Amino acid sequence: MTDFAQELAQQVAQRRTFAIISHPDAGKTTMTEKLLLWGKAIQVAGTVKSRKSDRAATSDWMEMEKERGISITTSVMQFPYKNHIVNLLDTPGHEDFSEDTYRTLTAVDSALMVIDGAKGVEERTIKLMEVCRMRDTPIISFVNKMDREIRDPLELLDEIENVLKIRCVPITWPIGTGKDFAGVYHLGQNKTYLYQHGQGSRIVELEVREGYDYPDIREKVGVLAFSAFEESLELAQMAHEDFDQQQFLTGQQTPVLFGTALGNFGVDQVLDAFVDWAPAPKAHPAKERQVDATEAGFSGFVFKIQANMDPKHRDRIAFMRICSGKYEKGLKMNHVRLGKEVRISDALTFLAGEREHLEEAWPGDIIGLHNHGTIQIGDTFTNGENLHFTGIPHFAPEMFRRVRLKDPLKSKQLQKGLKELSEEGATQVFMPQISNDLILGAVGVLQFDVVAYRLKEEYKVDCVYEPISVNTVRWIHCNDEKTLNEFKKKAHDQLSLDGGGHLTYLAPSRVNLQIMQERWPDIEFRSTREH
Ligand code: G4P
Repeated sequence: MTDFAQELAQQVAQRRTFAIISHPDAGKTTMTEKLLLWGKAIQVAGTVKSRKSDRAATSDWMEMEKERGISITTSVMQFPYKNHIVNLLDTPGHEDFSEDTYRTLTAVDSALMVIDGAKGVEERTIKLMEVCRMRDTPIISFVNKMDREIRDPLELLDEIENVLKIRCVPITWPIGTGKDFAGVYHLGQNKTYLYQHGQGSRIVELEVREGYDYPDIREKVGVLAFSAFEESLELAQMAHEDFDQQQFLTGQQTPVLFGTALGNFGVDQVLDAFVDWAPAPKAHPAKERQVDATEAGFSGFVFKIQANMDPKHRDRIAFMRICSGKYEKGLKMNHVRLGKEVRISDALTFLAGEREHLEEAWPGDIIGLHNHGTIQIGDTFTNGENLHFTGIPHFAPEMFRRVRLKDPLKSKQLQKGLKELSEEGATQVFMPQISNDLILGAVGVLQFDVVAYRLKEEYKVDCVYEPISVNTVRWIHCNDEKTLNEFKKKAHDQLSLDGGGHLTYLAPSRVNLQIMQERWPDIEFRSTREH
């Protein structure tokens, strides 16, 4: 093996790239902050500002943009942990940006599922798990807020298994909850980690004991609660299988840990689980072939584009996940879609709010490229090889509006703006075959406000929205030309082209869609489209 091959293999083996999936309020922000604390990226917890604006159902885009500097600069965080390099990818908390969230999940090798112990499996977690399932992403689960009264842990695990269709393996088991929370028992190690209240903002040495049966622990949680713990531990051991890394790596089993992000307890166990079990950067599928992370030739794909990230630099940044090889300052890359060579000398990384110029980066790392309109979501960059990475999806929007210009003479600018904003993934555009309408599709209603605001600010186009009776959209696919042509004739009034020129069916209602699917069994109605 050459020195470079050896170094590359080592860098790959050290990397863990993951994102947190959770329902708003489950504790993602708090968890992120504590992970950074363990990664020594911040010294004291409380320095990552809260991103309430992500959560509030506000339509005040201006306000959001002001806040965005914070949430975006923390959107990729790299830190060392126990001889490894962790890349933590943040996902927007607000559901209106969930498409971005979904695509971010295509750039990770594993995910951390944070569940509010009092609430259990919530709706957004279910949706995000569906996305993880598309790629069999390995999931590590953390039941949070043990310092509050939570639901019966056995019941929680049952719920995860039944609702999310993934088998749970308890790694730790909680002793008491709420103000009587004493700590967790680690099943594999036969050790108890004692929780110290009020140490959430720093790293403290925990008291660790062999086994769990101690008079002071019994006393702390109370006799009844302690026997309930013993009973549920026994049941948990009986009802759940042992950890099997292969089952975890294929997304069939999830190791479950308990703790409190706010109390910074259990967070290091989560990181240990990632280091010990989660996969190093995996091979990525391209149309032409699988690309292994340890291949010497550079390759990567863009999964997200963010505009106006920092009010001080009003530029667009394309986030690229490196799939193979090494990035070095000044690297020449082939922009495959354009068939053009570009030299990248100013890629960015974002560490705890700072933009830093990057000297080198390896597979699993995310780099930010300045984008002056030539980069789109899904674009592949390579050392020269003709590759197209797959699996970066567009999701069928669930909300639709017709766009009307206030000044009809601005139609060119409108089209340009919508084209660019849809390439960026800010919205999706549909052009019906029966009219000259432009229809916008979004996953969340706030996206419409963002688009209107940006059309005005960046393209000087004033537009208004009108309601339109479209319920959902499906991308049409059929290998048999005759059937397809027949379908095109019959469904003509409901057909449109999306921003990329792909044939889509705009369904006025779910019932209509169902009827069409039944009537046209040979036509595929796809709910996602790959870039
Ligand atoms: P999110 O990013 O998933 O939306 O959740 P975030 O971390 O902002 O947490 C939501 C709320 O839950 C916050 O309270 C946070 O302090 C609290 N929280 C997170 N982890 C724990 C935990 O382990 N135990 C307890 N008891 N609470 C936890 P908040 O009142 O909404 O905000 P704040 O005023 O505390 O910032």
